[in-house]
Amino acid sequence: MSKIPVAVLGATGNVGQRFVSLLQDHPTFEIAALTSSERKVGGHLKDFWRLEDVPLAPDVASIELQPLDVSVLRKHDIVAAFSALPAEIAVDVETNAAQSGVRIFSNASAHRMDADVPLLLPEVNPNHLPLVERQPSFREGGFVVTNPNCSITGLALPLKPLVDALDLTDVHVATYQALSGAGYPGVPSLDITANVVPFIESEEEKMRREAKKILGSMSDGILPSPIDVWANCARVAVRDGHLEAVSIPLKDDVPPREIARLLSSFRGEPHVQQLPTAPKQPVIVRAESNRPQPLLDLMAGEPARARGMAGTVGRIRVVGRVVRFFVLSHNTIRGGAGGSLLNAELAHRRGYLD
Ligand SMILES: NC(=O)c1ccc[n+]([C@@H]2O[C@H](COP(=O)([O-])OP(=O)(O)OC[C@H]3O[C@@H](n4cnc5c(N)ncnc54)[C@H](OP(=O)(O)O)[C@@H]3O)[C@@H](O)[C@H]2O)c1
Repeated sequence: MSKIPVAVLGATGNVGQRFVSLLQDHPTFEIAALTSSERKVGGHLKDFWRLEDVPLAPDVASIELQPLDVSVLRKHDIVAAFSALPAEIAVDVETNAAQSGVRIFSNASAHRMDADVPLLLPEVNPNHLPLVERQPSFREGGFVVTNPNCSITGLALPLKPLVDALDLTDVHVATYQALSGAGYPGVPSLDITANVVPFIESEEEKMRREAKKILGSMSDGILPSPIDVWANCARVAVRDGHLEAVSIPLKDDVPPREIARLLSSFRGEPHVQQLPTAPKQPVIVRAESNRPQPLLDLMAGEPARARGMAGTVGRIRVVGRVVRFFVLSHNTIRGGAGGSLLNAELAHRRGYLD
């Protein structure tokens, strides 16, 4: 059976390059078009490639970078497009592409909070996917599915089994976020070398409002979750991987080993459905006192296609009735391209790409 032709919009950026690395040997999807900004159009991705650990496949390296235009998607018979565009560029392009029948899987924040757009994390809210059927473009076959902000993605994975099993309402989190989360070239080197910047614009607000939508229940639209995420976000001099220090007041006495059991036994629909990029275990619990660390745990997840797709939790403690732990996740894989790809795999399995 032939593969489904897909495009990567913003293929030269941090998330775009991760998309390409995950798509170039994908069992279902095949890269048919790559776009960049005007200044790189006509060039080739090999001239801008920064993932030193992933070789660029020769057939992908030879694809000419195209302008960001719906006509390009039509010309290449694109069924689905993975968007790694800045939000201000994504807002109209994604809507127009969806109206022309393309299924959009987007990392951009532009449409995340639209009432008829799923903010999808397949282990957490796979039941939100049918929202796409309410989008005006669905009649033409197109729709937009978004994945959440990278820092709430890493937190929502361990939060889901805890919210389902325990009585809790408030989640406090302090983040240590990697440089690659700021796009390329990102934070000026003189601002971040030997430094920590305790401000990431809109990040704390995004974590709070996106958690309410992701964990919300589906009835006639999404009913926001009562859970409040209170975040303090900081940028640190780490290349990839967002580390988060989490504190959750509980209403009952729950021992740390029960928290560890809930997290490690959590399994999502992607694993049950055996989607190609699904991690066997979405949350891995480490017992060592000095884990997780970006250098050691960034690429957690198996099988091989799911490397970087699992969150790693460590240092689970309960003092009084407050549980505390650290969680680490890969911001451009689990919190970016890999998360979006998993959304597309779920949509494909449910017949939305037919
Ligand atoms: N980085 C993360 O960890 C992360 C995680 C989750 C979500 N996101 C979101 O994902 C999106 C991409 O993030 P990123 O970190 O990959 O950003 P990035 O490195 O700055 O890449 C942006 C991409 O968009 C292209 N682009 C920029 N302006 C354009 C224009 N006017 N017309 C056409 N293409 C244009 C760029 O092309 P050129 O290379 O030619 O400039 C590049 O390919 C953002 O919305 C971001 O908020 C990022």
